[in-house]
Amino acid sequence: MDDNKIIELIDVVKVYKNGVSALDRVSFTVRPGEFVFVVGESGAGKSTLIKLLTCEERANSGQVLLDGYNLADLSRRLVPFLRRKIGMIFQDFRLIEGKTVYENVAFAMEIIGASRAEIKRRVPLALTQVGLRHKSEMYPNELSGGEAQRLGIARAIVNNPTLILADEPTGNLDPVNGEAIMALLECINQEGTTVIACTHDKQLVDRMDKRVLEFLDGKLIRDEVHSTYDKRLKSLSGLKKQENGSTPRRLPQEQEHNQDLEEQLAKRGLDHLRVPQVEAMQKLIMDSHKRRASRRRNREDESAVDADKLE
Ligand SMILES: Nc1ncnc2c1ncn2[C@@H]1O[C@H](COP(=O)(O)OP(=O)(O)OP(=O)(O)O)[C@@H](O)[C@H]1O
Ligand SMILES: [Mg+2]
Repeated sequence: MDDNKIIELIDVVKVYKNGVSALDRVSFTVRPGEFVFVVGESGAGKSTLIKLLTCEERANSGQVLLDGYNLADLSRRLVPFLRRKIGMIFQDFRLIEGKTVYENVAFAMEIIGASRAEIKRRVPLALTQVGLRHKSEMYPNELSGGEAQRLGIARAIVNNPTLILADEPTGNLDPVNGEAIMALLECINQEGTTVIACTHDKQLVDRMDKRVLEFLDGKLIRDEVHSTYDKRLKSLSGLKKQENGSTPRRLPQEQEHNQDLEEQLAKRGLDHLRVPQVEAMQKLIMDSHKRRASRRRNREDESAVDADKLE
């Protein structure tokens, strides 16, 4: 394995059992220490790429090489050892609700058999790095979304991985928390860890000036260093063009709704976004508001119960 490649994909094809082609002859390399954004519309194949790198899925053909291992040949027995090299960060955080902040991070070390002394030494360091040391004894449902994702990062870095894979790490966060999370990832990257982040966050990608891989229908259609979210698509209108070049026919009501939405997007400098994508994003944001409100209600109920107990 070339020392200058932590990841190499050669002509990778992934077709799911239902016949959906998710990656189509994808080739690229990533050098150790790089920060790479993976962008592309919903269904483009971004998460599939991440799943191939974690061995959650296997390629149908082509090669996926990770830190010297050919993942196509890797025996199931060795998968957990390979995963130790990887820190995963998820859009929905995936924290263990019944464990405290400290215990969530400690658990990531326990499962790889770290000693108690190592756990005691490294967990506080990871929590300090993400600014959550003072919340060690709290539970995930007592954290804000931004804090929950920072905990996700602490858990991802505690085993000192060579590679961080983040699948839409800011997808459930407001812009300010999104900035904080990306700043943390950049910081971790500057310390030498390779970072690959799938995202729909145009503003962050545009500002961070990193390498961008863009996928469309499973194909890698752009690979540029110091790039932006939508260099190639900027000139297209918000609506998807049909293959023959004409815009798809829509019902008048839908058309009106889409035009409204497009105007709103244009005002915010988001005119590159497609209407279905935006609607999906709005749903995500609404869901996250609902979850926050329900957490707040639960906390209020709990304090009412506690107050009752005191009386
Ligand atoms: N387990 C699966 N079984 C069958 N098809 C799948 C499976 N997972 C993903 N797909 C399909 O593969 C394609 C690529 O999906 P993938 O999840 O990689 O897209 P994505 O770029 O991550 O999209 P998003 O931005 O919405 O997360 C899609 O057409 C999807 O429906
Ligand atoms: Mg995805």
